[in-house]
Amino acid sequence: MLDRYNREITYLRISVTDRCNLRCVYCMPEDGIELLEHADILSYDEITAFTRVAAARGVRKVKFTGGEPLVRRGVSRLVSMIASIEGITDISMTTNGILLPEYAGELKEAGLQRVNISLDTVNPSRYRELTRIGELEDVLKGIDAAIDAGLAPVKINCVVRQSSGERDAREVSSYGTGRGLEVRFIQEMTLSSGSYGIVHGGSGGDCSRCNRLRLTSDGKLKPCLFSDVEADIIDLGYNRAIDFALEHKPLCGTINEKGYFYNIGG
Ligand code: 5AD
Ligand code: SF4
Repeated sequence: MLDRYNREITYLRISVTDRCNLRCVYCMPEDGIELLEHADILSYDEITAFTRVAAARGVRKVKFTGGEPLVRRGVSRLVSMIASIEGITDISMTTNGILLPEYAGELKEAGLQRVNISLDTVNPSRYRELTRIGELEDVLKGIDAAIDAGLAPVKINCVVRQSSGERDAREVSSYGTGRGLEVRFIQEMTLSSGSYGIVHGGSGGDCSRCNRLRLTSDGKLKPCLFSDVEADIIDLGYNRAIDFALEHKPLCGTINEKGYFYNIGG
């Protein structure tokens, strides 16, 4: 399917929850967030039915995000439901890695192909500072679990404040190189100011070639991270929500006034 600027849309990012087991300073406000009601969250059947329609129209690649996708109960079951959809050939997940020791094996079995794991520092006290409540040890075990389970290639997403030359970034880089992992640097974004950065070496950030749509955990289809435009897939119906998103996908992103990332998965 093509949007109104003739960009081919093949990639769907699915946020399965707005909840997270960390509180990263650049992602969450200090005093937490108002959580969505369970009743407002799409069921696995609804997510799967929507994705089936999107796949019939040309979506090939799905990425699960959050919040933290692994805090939603039974997410491996959703992975296997999505993996069984004809046309979906690429299934990955962005995770903070904390719960991977528990779930990497079953995720792989369910059909997850690879993971992007967030790691902004390999210094334990800096990790605690940046995530407010996280233990570095847990994510390092998660990375090992992903490698052992064959969720390859394991990629590391590292948010940098200034540049990939800063100390935390350099240390993450050498940790990654040491383990043969690809490290991708992401410029910290301040959505409230409307500024944003490019994922170096990633596919994001180039509006002219943007191929993605985003589905939030409460069923809003968003054509762009940097725009408040959204379509409710339950109210409009799956096909009409997709039509709306294709029609309203901006040529280039501007400002998302809600100002935080926790519910759209970066
Ligand atoms: N700036 C850049 N990336 C962010 N993420 C969340 N908030 C921000 C932000 N303000 C991304 C990070 C993290 C993923 C879950 O979301 O890449 O790894
Ligand atoms: Fe959780 Fe990811 Fe946000 Fe950190 S950046 S609080 S791990 S959703």
